[in-house]
Amino acid sequence: MTLQIVRTIAELRDVTGGWRKAGLTSAVVPTMGALHEGHLTLVRQGLQNADRAVATLFVNPKQFAANEDLSRYPRDEAGDAAKLESAGAHLLYAPAPEVMYPPNFATTVSLSGPATAGLEDRFRPDFFAGVATVVTKLFNQCQCDFAMFGQKDYQQLQVVTRMAADLDIPIKVLPVPTIREADGLAMSSRNAYLSADERTKAVAIYKALTQAADAIRNGTSPNAATTKAAASLTDFRVDYVEARSAENLARVETFDQPLRLLAAAWLGKTRLIDNIAV
Ligand code: PAJ
Repeated sequence: MTLQIVRTIAELRDVTGGWRKAGLTSAVVPTMGALHEGHLTLVRQGLQNADRAVATLFVNPKQFAANEDLSRYPRDEAGDAAKLESAGAHLLYAPAPEVMYPPNFATTVSLSGPATAGLEDRFRPDFFAGVATVVTKLFNQCQCDFAMFGQKDYQQLQVVTRMAADLDIPIKVLPVPTIREADGLAMSSRNAYLSADERTKAVAIYKALTQAADAIRNGTSPNAATTKAAASLTDFRVDYVEARSAENLARVETFDQPLRLLAAAWLGKTRLIDNIAV
C-alpha cells in the first residue's frame, strides 16, 4: 500500500466519500506534523476502530500567539509521510494555509466549559479558539466517522469532545493514552527543541506528577501534593501543576472522584506539558 497525499478539500472528500460509498468507515488523526510514536499510535488506534485512517498535517497559525513558536515549529512532511505509511495510514491531507484560511476568512469557534478551566487557557488565551476552529474545519472537510485525540493534551481532548457534541458534528472523538519515552517523558514534537542536558532534565515533570499521584493516593491533599510537585521542579519555570476532576477539569479540594494531575512548565525556551490520572 502506498500512502496517498492530497492538499485540497475536494480531493480529500473524493477519497473519504468513496470509502463511505463502499461501506468503509474512517478515522481522522489531526496533527501538526513532526510525527512521533504518539501520533502513530493514534493512527494505529484509528485503524482498530475504522477501516481507513486519514492523518492531517497542518501547522495551524491560529493556535499560536505572536510570541510563540510558529515559525520554528519542526516541519518534515516527507519524513512524516514515510512514518504514516509504515503505520498503515491510507491518506495524508496536508493543506496549504490558503486552503484552510482563504481571504476573507472571518469565523472563530467560541468556547466555554473545559476551554475556560484556567489551565492552558490561562497562559495561552487564544489557543483553544484556534484549535477548535481548525478542528471544526478538519471534521467538516474529512467527514470521517471517528477522530483520534491524545490524552497528552488532556484539556484539548475535553474541549474537542465537548465541541463536537455541542455542535452536533457527526464524528466520535476517541481518546488515546499518552505514549512516553523509555524514561517516562511524554513524547512531543516540541521535545526536538531540547538540548541534551535539557532532555535529561525534562523527565522531572513526569516524575513530579507520579510522586504527587502516589502522595494523593496515600492521603495527602491534592493541593498539598501539587504544590510540592511544583516546588520540586527547580530547573523549570512552572506555569501550573494542578489537580482537577478527571471528568470535567473542575477544581477539587479532596480525592473523592477520579482526578487528573496536569502540569505545564518551561525548560529554557521550551514549554512542556504533561498529565496523569489519579
Ligand atoms: P499535535 O501536537 O501534532 O498532536 C496531534 C495529536 O497527537 C493530538 O491529539 C495529541 O494529543 C496527540 N499526541 C501528541 N503527543 C502524544 C503522545 N505522546 N501520546 C499520545 N498522543 C499524543 O494537538 C495538536 O497537534 C493540534 O492542536 C491539532 C489538534 C492538530 C489542531 O491543530
